[in-house]
Amino acid sequence: MSTAKPGDQNPFVGPIPFGETDLIYGREQELPRLFDLFVAQRIVLFYAPSGAGKTSLIEAKNGLRSLMSGLEFTVWPTISVKHTTDAGASGSDEAVNRYVSSVLQSLERGRAENLRVPPDELQSMSLADYFARQDAAGDERLDVLIFDQLEQIFAIDPIDQESKFAFFAQIGDLLRNRRHWALFSMREDYIASLDPYLRLIPTLPGGRFSSPPQMEVSRSPTMQLTRSSRT
Ligand SMILES: Nc1ncnc2c1ncn2[C@@H]1O[C@H](COP(=O)(O)OP(=O)(O)O)[C@@H](O)[C@H]1O
Ligand SMILES: [Mg+2]
Repeated sequence: MSTAKPGDQNPFVGPIPFGETDLIYGREQELPRLFDLFVAQRIVLFYAPSGAGKTSLIEAKNGLRSLMSGLEFTVWPTISVKHTTDAGASGSDEAVNRYVSSVLQSLERGRAENLRVPPDELQSMSLADYFARQDAAGDERLDVLIFDQLEQIFAIDPIDQESKFAFFAQIGDLLRNRRHWALFSMREDYIASLDPYLRLIPTLPGGRFSSPPQMEVSRSPTMQLTRSSRT
């Protein structure tokens, strides 16, 4: 199935997170709290150390994705933000934001082939364009966007701030439409790297996104949720 080239993959795979066929146990406190927080707040930043179980909590058979899908939400394939070095990005156009491209490719992955946007059109689309196109198809959806390992955007190309600002501005534009929900999951040691971009993400009603209060979600010191403050 995979067409990975030699050298694309790190031979050290690391711990494998739970997936859609695995039932997760031991998160009876965290999962309902994350779920309720997400439904209530619409935009949530979820952080914990690497290996704490973020991806598993989201992707397990009884995880967050599945809970959201059980409501009226359209839960899109998990988004990863990284360099796009695929063949489709050849002719690398300066105007193309590669982080946006990476998101669009993540979104397209879960769609039936006949519903996919032609790659050359996809290249020049903004996130708002992409969802407007879905809306034009007549869907009345509530979209859930799950960004996992968001820290990847900070780990690559630290001097490429302009593209990162443009990327977060696009996310902000998208989230001003209240039909879009977003969960940002990331390693807590990268949280400070998000600071310069927080003003681009819409505030919650009466709230601010920056300096959010931390919320303990379990007796385990490894898992914390955070949300926008209300005042
Ligand atoms: N509730 C759990 N019970 C047992 N193992 C877990 C649980 N949650 C995660 N794991 C395991 O811990 C490792 C790290 O989980 P992962 O979801 O990848 O963490 P993160 O995304 O925070 O880095 C994986 O091997 C995963 O299978
Ligand atoms: Mg993970």
